[in-house]
Amino acid sequence: MSDIHLNPEQLAPLMALERQRFLERHPQSLALSRQAEGHFLLGVPMHWMRDWPGPATLFVREAHGVSLTCADGLNYSDFCLGDTGAMFGHSPPAVAQALAAQSSRGLTSMLPTTQTPVVGERLAECFGMPFWQLAMTASDANRFVLRWARAVTRRPQVLVFDGCYHGAVDDTLVDRDPLSGLTLPRASVLGQVHNHPAYTRVVPFNDLDALEAGLSDGQVAALLAEPALTNFGLVPPQPGFWEAAQTLCRRHGTLLVLDETHTMSTGLGGYARCHGLTPDCLVMGKAVAGGMPCAVYGFTDAMARQMQAAKQEAPEGHSGIGTTLTANALTMAALAAALEHLHTHDSYQHMLDIAAKLEQGLMDRIRAAGRPWTVTRLGARMELQFMACTPRHAQDVREQSQPALESYIHLFMLNRGVLLTPFHSMMLCSPATRLTDVETLLRCFDEWLDTLPA
Ligand SMILES: Cc1ncc(COP(=O)(O)O)c(C=O)c1O
Repeated sequence: MSDIHLNPEQLAPLMALERQRFLERHPQSLALSRQAEGHFLLGVPMHWMRDWPGPATLFVREAHGVSLTCADGLNYSDFCLGDTGAMFGHSPPAVAQALAAQSSRGLTSMLPTTQTPVVGERLAECFGMPFWQLAMTASDANRFVLRWARAVTRRPQVLVFDGCYHGAVDDTLVDRDPLSGLTLPRASVLGQVHNHPAYTRVVPFNDLDALEAGLSDGQVAALLAEPALTNFGLVPPQPGFWEAAQTLCRRHGTLLVLDETHTMSTGLGGYARCHGLTPDCLVMGKAVAGGMPCAVYGFTDAMARQMQAAKQEAPEGHSGIGTTLTANALTMAALAAALEHLHTHDSYQHMLDIAAKLEQGLMDRIRAAGRPWTVTRLGARMELQFMACTPRHAQDVREQSQPALESYIHLFMLNRGVLLTPFHSMMLCSPATRLTDVETLLRCFDEWLDTLPA
């Protein structure tokens, strides 16, 4: 069996070859990069579009299903799928048609469209929560939910798990000091003034003792968590963890908010629905409306009553919840179509079957190559992890991950027509993913393995 950690210095020349290959194959993307640099910071409309590996940005001409075509006319099998925004495939026909039909009937009016009641019924049926509100992004939804949670419980604190990501939400952009266990502001966050230690507690995932200690003084309004960490590699819950965590929340009067923005990939209705969990509130974003900017949050009857009371008791004026274009007519049309045509048993059956094949193919190759790595899968989403075992919490990932190896595989795959999620090695299968896409990925993986030092 090979060494667990490959030496980044041995990978450097391999990476240099890939950078060169990218430049040779993408003259149009390179030209667009230079042109865009004239007026966009870092040459991109969103700075993290430069976080993809490679010497220049890949510009997209168009995308359908899981096929993406870049400015140079090269085609890619997309397993990144917009980091879940396009989980149901790019431009799903039902959503594209609904958008086209709505686009000539009004885009936004600050009033609900006639489809609204049906959308509410479909949300309740799909995700199992009786009441709903919309937001434009999952970041917004999480921010709003934390406001509601503090308003209804009249408690100041929130608790999150170490390694969490819930979007651009100040309360949650924290890390845990591994020595003291105290909350630290996340060092990479820009312009930070929020008083994190005063209002956010952070404990390791899968650690019930730490969770109980964090909740026991009755000051925590909400535990905001993904059912499995998906933004720090993929860290699944240990058996029984959520049942016990749920009981702890109830015992200490803390609302349980599950952010299912990524774990919606588990199965129809999301992780909580598939595993019989009963949170107080659920957040779904990204792919929920088939890739249009939209997020939804659902809550129980009891919470709805408390939210209504909190709103009635508050003075007239801004609630700090909501943005002007949220729930606009285009979004509602996309959401209605997505709930009817994408969130279906058939979609998930295909996604899960094909994801299982990909997982098996990767694991077979890892074993055959004698590499001490693993693949962790949650429904349609999986993560190639350059460590011997599935991690139990964020600290495992910090200690064992191999960033140089990750960058190398991302760029190697991209240069051969396969897109992996750039921030770690996540692969997502959609209803449009074909066996040929999986075979392409596995063939490139074989090639990549052959390039590695022993
Ligand atoms: C679990 C989770 N919640 C929320 C978000 C934020 O989503 P958005 O960037 O669409 O606001 C993300 C983004 O990656 C996420 O992974």
